Amino acid sequence: MTLTEIDAVVDDFGAATRRAREAGFDVIEIHAAHGYLLHSFMSALSNTRDDQYGGDYEARTRLLREVITRVREEWGERPLFVRISVVEAFESPDSWTLADSERIAGWLIDQGVDLIDCSTGGLVPGAGIFGDTPAYQLEYSEALRRVGATTAVVGGITEPAQAEEILRDGKADLVLLGRELLRNPGWVGRAAAELGVPRPAPPQYFRAYRPGESTALLTERTH
Ligand SMILES: Cc1cc2nc3c(=O)[nH]c(=O)nc-3n(C[C@H](O)[C@H](O)[C@H](O)COP(=O)(O)O)c2cc1C
Repeated sequence: MTLTEIDAVVDDFGAATRRAREAGFDVIEIHAAHGYLLHSFMSALSNTRDDQYGGDYEARTRLLREVITRVREEWGERPLFVRISVVEAFESPDSWTLADSERIAGWLIDQGVDLIDCSTGGLVPGAGIFGDTPAYQLEYSEALRRVGATTAVVGGITEPAQAEEILRDGKADLVLLGRELLRNPGWVGRAAAELGVPRPAPPQYFRAYRPGESTALLTERTH
């Protein structure tokens, strides 16, 4: 990318944020993980530039920092999340490391980023932590929480009690699900029922609740 093209990308993030605001979105998440553009600048595995956007940590994170700054200008104090690959899980001295993530987390916190969504890998083929083992990326959320970040965990969370335990133990502030919601689109309702909390649903769904269930849940929802 030329410097002019980089400036245009920052402008585009700003314009997209403005449209999101005008459209009434509640939250924006900037994707700086999984080999997407911002991640590809952050990691020396992919960033071989020799200008102010490549080289040391400061240079490689410059585009992310410019984008976040611009998005904040457009988004005001509304909730802003950032997803990063906390580790690249790829054996190379050029890999982005946990120490890099702890460092960028400090900057993101200072910018008022509300939540860091903790994933891994995705930059080069085969890099990342994959699987279906329970909460397999949780340690990265815990690590960034230790440096003061508010975090989300994703990966291998399938059970309501498991999600609740993660929150209760202070290992993440938000639990995200991917594949389990594809397997079971009604998961949120199931989780609410299992955990004994009101089921979040549009009112038209209430007619589908079983008698005892609907009464209790409707009563709670009206508070
Ligand atoms: C079909 C599919 C598409 C996905 N697309 C994206 C994506 O565009 N961006 C992203 O950050 N993660 C994407 N993911 C990864 C999920 O966000 C999530 O991090 C990953 O599936 C692990 O969580 P899980 O075990 O709950 O599925 C995708 C996952 C699946 C299964």
